[in-house]
Amino acid sequence: MLILGLNMFHADASAAIVDDGKILFAVAEERLNRHKHYGGFPSLAVKACLDAVGAKITDVAHVAVGQDSDAHLAKKVQYALANPAKILNFIKMRQRKESMRDVRSLLSQALDVDTPTLKFQEHHLEHHIAHIASSYYCSPWEKAAGFSYDGSGDFVSTMMARCEGNDIHVLDRVFLPHSLGSFYTMICEFVGYKKYGDEGKVMGLAPYGKDTYVEQIKKILALKNGAFQLNLGYFKPLGSNQGMQVLPDGTVRLARHFSDKMEKLFGTPREPHTEITQRDMNLAYAMQHCFEEAFFHLLNDLHQRVPEENLAMAGGCALNSVANGKLFSRTPFRRTWIQPAAGDEGLAIGAALHTYHSVLKQPRREQMNHAYLGPEFSEGQIATDLKGAGVKYQRLERGPLLDAVSDEMVRGNVVGWFQGRMEWGPRALGNRSIVTHPGLPNMKDVLNARIKHREWFRPFAPAILAEAQHEYFEHDHPSPYMLHVYKIRPDKRKRLWAVNHVDDTGRLQTVTREENPLYYDLIQTFGKKTGTPVILNTSFNENEPIVCTPKEAIDCFQRTKMDVLAIGPFFARKTEN
Ligand SMILES: [Fe+2]
Repeated sequence: MLILGLNMFHADASAAIVDDGKILFAVAEERLNRHKHYGGFPSLAVKACLDAVGAKITDVAHVAVGQDSDAHLAKKVQYALANPAKILNFIKMRQRKESMRDVRSLLSQALDVDTPTLKFQEHHLEHHIAHIASSYYCSPWEKAAGFSYDGSGDFVSTMMARCEGNDIHVLDRVFLPHSLGSFYTMICEFVGYKKYGDEGKVMGLAPYGKDTYVEQIKKILALKNGAFQLNLGYFKPLGSNQGMQVLPDGTVRLARHFSDKMEKLFGTPREPHTEITQRDMNLAYAMQHCFEEAFFHLLNDLHQRVPEENLAMAGGCALNSVANGKLFSRTPFRRTWIQPAAGDEGLAIGAALHTYHSVLKQPRREQMNHAYLGPEFSEGQIATDLKGAGVKYQRLERGPLLDAVSDEMVRGNVVGWFQGRMEWGPRALGNRSIVTHPGLPNMKDVLNARIKHREWFRPFAPAILAEAQHEYFEHDHPSPYMLHVYKIRPDKRKRLWAVNHVDDTGRLQTVTREENPLYYDLIQTFGKKTGTPVILNTSFNENEPIVCTPKEAIDCFQRTKMDVLAIGPFFARKTEN
């Protein structure tokens, strides 16, 4: 039985296809249409899902959408009535959402089929239940606490749940305008990061700050009785053109969140691309600190209600890997399972699996143990694209390829590593990665000058053999999807120079042979040559969505100063091209 899951008309539109409870394929639309965080209808992703399993839309029994615009309608109406200036906005939004609900017409248009031929049953699932479902149903657990938090979805910003067997029992919700995601975004905007998805950048700035503003920022985010409340005086009112908007072309835009009160307290907001001052760093510090305090406050309360050691988590804020890395010491939870696509693209998987397990009452069988759910390309296709681009290359067997690539990394060269199926979620995890030596002091600058052009304060990430984690990091809990930041042990910091952040931490990816044998062997081969079973791993892209196709990888190799491209079994050097 095929179930198609969708996240549509929301940031990070995506599609996933599930067969008898097994996720066969999943992809975000941005990777296919190259429009970052695309928020329209995921036509290409739907086609890619169907092509990958050799099915037609008429073979699909259920279509599940991770959005339910009827959810909490009373709350929305209540809010609009209390804020009369917003009523017109509210009506417009409802009208727009209604036109987007017609999944049958949207699919028939996208796939060029007649609407009456579509026999599937349609399901709409509340945003945060879909987030929790995307995590819990992929976890190995039969019981867990479920937690989801983000900017907003279906008028809710935070959800707590008890997950047991096939069911997700919602225990609590935090409704808008109170939102930890909005809190974080508001301060990111104030310090000059105004684009949707910039929050992760500012997280890297936080350790450069001091605790100067913690007390002031605490006044914006009050914690009480297992909940939190924003002081709304610091925010522009919800509905006043504030917050996230999806434009008709699918662009996701942020409109200013902060009110004049922020300017009175902290001075002029920083404009993008201007100098970052100590004030901005101190604000980033206070933001991350207060966010973490709220997160632990909520989790400790959740644990009282669901006294389990397992925590299944998703939502855009669950990408805050710094907070995730600390939760073991600040809460009683001992194990986390965080959806690799913790942001909104993950809703497609959550909605599909919820339909299978909770609606259709089918037994649990999925246990996600890797994130390689996207498109792959044949050796023939890659060779054709290399020839088409005029790249000189050689074909190597597995052993010689690993040897050649690791030799290049030992020499401090930068390698574009394109292998197998593309990753699901925002992180490159060794199939669409740029890899190099993690221990060279100038490597961060080299990468930034030649390819990545990122802000000076943003760290690069280490990928480490899972069995070596304990030797290098001060925490043992695995981080397979690069969603935990841990302290690097003092005696190992020099070896990890280029991936050691200013606070001696690393946002690591732990790699097992079962998850990704080729990538594991690459790290191991590099480890044998250098004594360090760790490589630097950053996403294969240059200010664009991560590359998906061989053509995009080859193009990135040719236009940047990447030294080597290892694509499938093919090996190409820049010096020979
Ligand atoms: Fe979300």
